[in-house]
Amino acid sequence: MSDQSPFDVDVITLTRFVMEQGRKAKGTGELTQLLNSMLTAIKAISSAVRKAGLAHMYGIAGTMNVTGDQVKKLDVLSNDLVINMLQSSYSTCVLVSEENKEALITPPERRGKYVVCFDPLDGSSNIDCLASIGTIFAIYRKTTETEPSEKDALVPGKDIVAAGYALYGSATLVALTTGQGVNCFMLDPAVGEFILVDRNIKMKKKGKIYSVNEGYAKYFDPDVTEYLKKKKFPEDGSEPYGSRYVGSMVADVHRTLIYGGIFMYPANKKSPKGKLRLLYECNPIAFIVEQAGGVATTGTQRVLDVQPESIHQRVPCILGSPDDVEEFLACVQKHPKRS
Ligand code: F6P
Repeated sequence: MSDQSPFDVDVITLTRFVMEQGRKAKGTGELTQLLNSMLTAIKAISSAVRKAGLAHMYGIAGTMNVTGDQVKKLDVLSNDLVINMLQSSYSTCVLVSEENKEALITPPERRGKYVVCFDPLDGSSNIDCLASIGTIFAIYRKTTETEPSEKDALVPGKDIVAAGYALYGSATLVALTTGQGVNCFMLDPAVGEFILVDRNIKMKKKGKIYSVNEGYAKYFDPDVTEYLKKKKFPEDGSEPYGSRYVGSMVADVHRTLIYGGIFMYPANKKSPKGKLRLLYECNPIAFIVEQAGGVATTGTQRVLDVQPESIHQRVPCILGSPDDVEEFLACVQKHPKRS
């Protein structure tokens, strides 16, 4: 059709993008296969998320034979979807999920070379109030010849091959990186495809928003308290920062990526290691943040340098615009470390 066509007939879909990158990297196609399977799981989760309230309402109204108990809970459903899609992609050997105590080893006849750590539905406390939730994943290459085991997932985040998140917000979006910048794709529900909307996004050097659960203020370390005071009562004549906190890491991080600023889940007296999990929350998000020009730290080291000791390990996580995180780290320097 002519240029006047209201439809772009040559859009870059996420599938096309992933295939093109695979071609350029002259790979075997296994990562492309894996990413495509992950995307299918994300589309299915997105559809389930959009229908969850409806299914629940029908249950109450009695128009359908569904009760809360009969409907598979969204987080369980999402986990099953990701596991099944990844194991049948013939590209994985070890999976670590937030929902499973132990690592899952792919059956021998379906094995491939990748290790995937994921949180199938992050921010689950937000499901029932319909606030944004997400899926997070990190992909590693198995580097040893040994039988696949949990140990294959205990590698630092700097070794990530690809990482991404899906945000089920006012629209469904995927942010993806294979180590060459971050690209964002929006789901077009009419076509069922993710369309490239933001290429190589970069985080602002400094933002105007801080994001932390201030309900824990009583338990914060002095460095965090001091930093937050500086944001609320600046002494250099600048305007105070705005405060935003959804309580879904993906939503809070995506806002930080787009608008700039700082997101913090620091250690506190009640949770000396913070709350967020290293393998499937902090690492993939830190990888994306760094790829977008931001910084992600535990307060004492780069998140991506942490050597994991167990698959569900927690670490403090502070990330965002470089100038904002640097300012926080300057406060950390002024206070003696907790042993
Ligand atoms: O780890 C799950 C999670 O829901 C994150 O997505 C979110 O950042 C965090 O917990 C919120 O925790 P809290 O309710 O303690 O602020």
